[in-house]
Amino acid sequence: MAAWLAGLGAVAGAGATLAGYALLYEPFDVRAEQLTVRLMRDRPGLPDEGLRILHLSDTHFRGADRREHAKIEQVRRATAGAQFDLLIHTGDFLHNDNGLENVLALIDSIPRPRLGAYAVTGNHDHVVYEMKKALHYSWRIFRSRGGECDDISSRGNKNSSRARVGLLLHFARYLLNNRFDGEPSGVNDIAGLRRALEGRGVRFLDNQAVRLEGTDAYLVGIEDLLQGEPDLHGGLQGVRPDAPTILLSHNPDVVALPAASQADLILAGHTHGGQIVLPLLGPVYTQTEQLTRSEASGYWRHGQTHVYVHRGLGESIPIRIGAPPHVTFLTLLPARPNGVNAGP
Ligand SMILES: [Fe+2]
Repeated sequence: MAAWLAGLGAVAGAGATLAGYALLYEPFDVRAEQLTVRLMRDRPGLPDEGLRILHLSDTHFRGADRREHAKIEQVRRATAGAQFDLLIHTGDFLHNDNGLENVLALIDSIPRPRLGAYAVTGNHDHVVYEMKKALHYSWRIFRSRGGECDDISSRGNKNSSRARVGLLLHFARYLLNNRFDGEPSGVNDIAGLRRALEGRGVRFLDNQAVRLEGTDAYLVGIEDLLQGEPDLHGGLQGVRPDAPTILLSHNPDVVALPAASQADLILAGHTHGGQIVLPLLGPVYTQTEQLTRSEASGYWRHGQTHVYVHRGLGESIPIRIGAPPHVTFLTLLPARPNGVNAGP
């Protein structure tokens, strides 16, 4: 009996430690990551030393001052004294309008970029999601789709304990393979967010391109795939097909659009790296419809396009395990003259 109680106590202690780590430690363990990639196609127009980019994403601020001020301080330390050409934020600045003041404080805490600050909006910048109801909302969608549980509910007594367990297993599989968002409960003041950030020198690229000063390289932004009006063809209008091109998209599913192959580098966010990464399984969710679990964060290649999916600085549900928040300094170099242009 004593051994049994000791075992139970050990399990409870380990659970409490893990919960404390997920809630109070890892979300504030902001890393500074570095990545250098070369153009895979020989496209003239980048400076010899390349472009140095500071990439931020998914801050998800909501006015939780203690947590958000702690993150801002971590970012300030990670970027202090850094010199870079572009500051990029790939959306989900805020979770709701209460986070605006801290979003502006974050931008103010970062050194000024040489060539400018650019952004795209994310789905959370447009819509308020009620995360406390995320599980219940997902269950309703799961049941409304019906197909996933037809084979269970049509088999004998659907109230039997065996059928109920089967249904729950189907739901668990559904959760692992679908977006996990709260119930939409309102809209954010997206115009106010844009105005405030533009006042800080951040330019939104809504299906638009800009040629970077002193280079023949282009930066293109696409509106959010879920809540915006994305038009990649419109965004690429006027971009020379052989020019070095960087595409900003909140949602990395943009890689599935054929026109995205024109980009040499895609910067995205949205996935939060899954927020919880488990042994063997990997990220518990990807928030996307096109990516594999291994593509839910970090660097990978799609054809001749480098793709970088940011894990974000903030969270929708405020826990992280195995997917710490970060800022990334990314350098994009010209192609090698001998044509050998491997990855990073
Ligand atoms: Fe997000």
